[in-house]
Amino acid sequence: MTEKMSTHQAAEDARNEEILIYVDGRIVPKAEATVSVYDSGFMLGDGVWEGLRLYNGRWAFLDEHMDRLFEAAKAIDLDIGMDRQGVIDALTATQQANGMTTDAHARLMVTRGVKMRPFQHPSLSRSGPTMVIIMEHSRPNLPRPIRLATVPHIRGLPMTQDPKLNSHSKLNCILACIAAEKAGADEALMLDVNGFVNTTNACNFFIVRKGEVWTSTGDYCMNGITRQKVIDLCRENGIPVFERNYSLVDTYGADEAFLTGTFGAQTPVGEIDGRVIGTGEMGPMTRRIRELYKALIEKEVSA
Ligand SMILES: Cc1ncc(COP(=O)(O)O)c(C=O)c1O
Repeated sequence: MTEKMSTHQAAEDARNEEILIYVDGRIVPKAEATVSVYDSGFMLGDGVWEGLRLYNGRWAFLDEHMDRLFEAAKAIDLDIGMDRQGVIDALTATQQANGMTTDAHARLMVTRGVKMRPFQHPSLSRSGPTMVIIMEHSRPNLPRPIRLATVPHIRGLPMTQDPKLNSHSKLNCILACIAAEKAGADEALMLDVNGFVNTTNACNFFIVRKGEVWTSTGDYCMNGITRQKVIDLCRENGIPVFERNYSLVDTYGADEAFLTGTFGAQTPVGEIDGRVIGTGEMGPMTRRIRELYKALIEKEVSA
């Protein structure tokens, strides 16, 4: 029996007990950071969010995160109640209140707000959105490559809660993660509606075969910012990269596999459904892409 692990595992940091949290314009100690039990986020998962990372005093790929947040809010017909600069100002104020300069992770959440009555209809949220920013000191800390298990929960079609939406409601992903844990893995590998390998419950997924990097078409997964950066980096650096359909057979037989996400950048995968992937350790392509991504972040935060 190995220890439980997740892709979002960070080193313990006692300072996180003392953080200040943004709640609707107020920046308050963790213990005072609460929302109403009538909040549509709490009650129904009715909201959208972004995960952002601070390196060297700068929020990496801030424009892309703001684009995605406002696009998602528009899609669910949620008025954030402020413009992009307002959101960035809230993020900066929270960062400054916490005295954070690097290795911090923000979860910026916007819900439809407090409801008049405990029912679903969005018109019951009348007092404006709720915005919360949790910002923690965070250094990814994975002692070994991640283990995945495929699960019965699939990535749905876009007309049933488009999987591109970073919605508060993550129940499909959570059920997938629970199934993977019960199968003895760390997290879930999810297939699309046609049975092709798509993504994991919390990160995007890539394989490496014979010097080529493959990821899903993007049709049923989160439009991950790190995913796109990896694709762009491969193209710029002469690494063949394909967004395509592929199956579990291609995946088990891959030389390497890795996950992408803002938190962990690129996380190696050692095992899927009990099959060791490649050597089971981080492979040379994953290592190279990690280095290219690290250099991209350095360029991004020094620009
Ligand atoms: C389901 C899912 N896939 C992938 C990602 C990674 O996206 P990004 O690279 O933008 O952090 C996330 C992060 O929010 C996610 O929730």
